Amino acid sequence: MYYSDELIEDIRMKNDILDVVSGYVKLQKKGSSYFGLCPFHNEKSPSFSVTPSKQMYYCFGCGAGGNVYTFVMQYENYDFVEAVKMLAERAGVELPEENNDAESRRASDLRKTLLEINKKAAYFYCYKLRQKDGRLGYQYLTGRELSEETIKKFGLGYAGKYRDELYRYLKNEGYNDVVLRESGLITFDEARGVYDKFFNRVMFPIMDVNSRVIGFGGRVMGEGEPKYLNSPETKVFEKSRNLYGLNIARTSRKPYVIICEGYMDVISLHQAGFQNAVASLGTAFTSGHASLLKRYTEEVMLSYDSDGAGVKAALRAIPICKSAGLRVKVINMKPYKDPDEFIKNLGKEAYEERIQSAQNAFFFEISVLEEQYDLKDPESKTLFINELAKKLLIFEEKIERNNYLEAVAEKYHIGFANLEGLVNKFGLQMDPAAKRQEEPERAKKKLDADSAGEQGQKLLLTWLIEKPNIYPQIKKYITIEDFDEGVYKTVALHLFEQLEQHKLNPAQILNIFQNQEEQGKAAALFNTKLEALEGKMEEEKAVKDIVLKVKQHSLENLNKNSDPSDMAGLQRILAGKSILQELEKLHISLD
Ligand code: UTP
Ligand code: MN
Repeated sequence: MYYSDELIEDIRMKNDILDVVSGYVKLQKKGSSYFGLCPFHNEKSPSFSVTPSKQMYYCFGCGAGGNVYTFVMQYENYDFVEAVKMLAERAGVELPEENNDAESRRASDLRKTLLEINKKAAYFYCYKLRQKDGRLGYQYLTGRELSEETIKKFGLGYAGKYRDELYRYLKNEGYNDVVLRESGLITFDEARGVYDKFFNRVMFPIMDVNSRVIGFGGRVMGEGEPKYLNSPETKVFEKSRNLYGLNIARTSRKPYVIICEGYMDVISLHQAGFQNAVASLGTAFTSGHASLLKRYTEEVMLSYDSDGAGVKAALRAIPICKSAGLRVKVINMKPYKDPDEFIKNLGKEAYEERIQSAQNAFFFEISVLEEQYDLKDPESKTLFINELAKKLLIFEEKIERNNYLEAVAEKYHIGFANLEGLVNKFGLQMDPAAKRQEEPERAKKKLDADSAGEQGQKLLLTWLIEKPNIYPQIKKYITIEDFDEGVYKTVALHLFEQLEQHKLNPAQILNIFQNQEEQGKAAALFNTKLEALEGKMEEEKAVKDIVLKVKQHSLENLNKNSDPSDMAGLQRILAGKSILQELEKLHISLD
């Protein structure tokens, strides 16, 4: 999709960065900026800043920075187009439709209406919970040791005994039967007529990562079947792409996410301070869930039920998580059934200890495998070791495989060489085509340290941004040709243009860079704190030194790259030299 520069800039200006970031990060005013804890790295004291006058953010701790687009891209893991879409919607700017046909417009209108209906239903159930006839529901929840704060935070509610309360309410709000049927909250039955999907249950609204209600789970209060009833899949409720609690968990800033089985587990964990817990929505864990999580974390901890079904679910989830690139550990809930019961009985400190001692997924898998064999019986043990050797083939990286080999060989008293021999034997037998493709190394590209020349260029740009009146004094001497190819040159090009027109607008310049690395590098420019210097004279001298340095560097480059027989090149060098001499005499004023 192509959006014009004007449109992109218009959307950017309509999304005040302070408003947008405040929706994610708690900020406090300090001078002309606002500070908060950086959402992009772990820290205890705030080094993340938002500067409304520049419409930019910057973290002095980790160097993350940019404009409102960069922020949304970084936080939500969106690409540029997704960020544009989100911010356009937020500001009520119409984007040219990708598929402008009636069909797709109708679909998007329907989605909007379904979200509206779910939201109204959530309010309705919350309201019911606080009414007299909702007492039963309220007592059930408090009976399960949920605090008022927790009940509010998760928007828990109550669906009453009558079978059509929600239906009547939503009809009253003006929704027709066709769309109500699509919402999944109302059942239309030939024989039995129209009735609410949920009644006589406590209600758990299910939210997407943006905290929009997309469906519900409803639990019977006590015994009864089914224990939990869930909204069916609808146009807005995709069970394999959403996780319960992720809207909160993703902002918890913990380096891992806890995955558990039930809604109540998530709620108990959050109440106990583990706000990074999520659960799937009454369905098994899928690769859709795994790649969703990968947007927010590198590591997951499985906190599944300790029964056979829980172990099976964990064994299923491990390879799914691994192939999404997540590291996996398994938390042991024994002797309790699930995290909810564990915390009720042993408390949050004990749970934290279990997190600390969580088992590496591979060891978890082999300890489950081991239970199927009798290690005292030589024949059974041999079979077990064969299975073990096959499993070790998962590790393609030699060092990693050897580390596991060593650990396993020691644990089962096999002897490293023996086990290695076995692993190699199975490795050779394996069909090479069946071997897992090596995951391309997600090379974290490190920014090259600024070269000496770049350093000066960077400082010059910073000064120009801080004190635009330097520009008219130096423009005779410094042009964009004096900048090395790259981010700084691009910034210079646009900055000089803006300064020429007296319209300094750093956030607009950042629109140009659509990859985060470049955005970060450019954003750093606008946020570099200039060294505090003694007085104005000192500063003026510093600026002049920087200007000289930039020019010298550019001349050196010219020299290096010039061909002695190229007269034009020689002339440029000579001209440069005379500019340098003039510059040496120049007085730059900061007034
Ligand atoms: P559990 O049966 O383990 O329930 O189901 P739980 O989480 O411990 O619930 P409490 O503590 O008894 O209230 C785990 C999850 O499986 C789904 C729900 O999402 C539930 O949270 N489930 C379970 C259903 O969708 N339907 C059911 O009938 C049972
Ligand atoms: Mn439970």
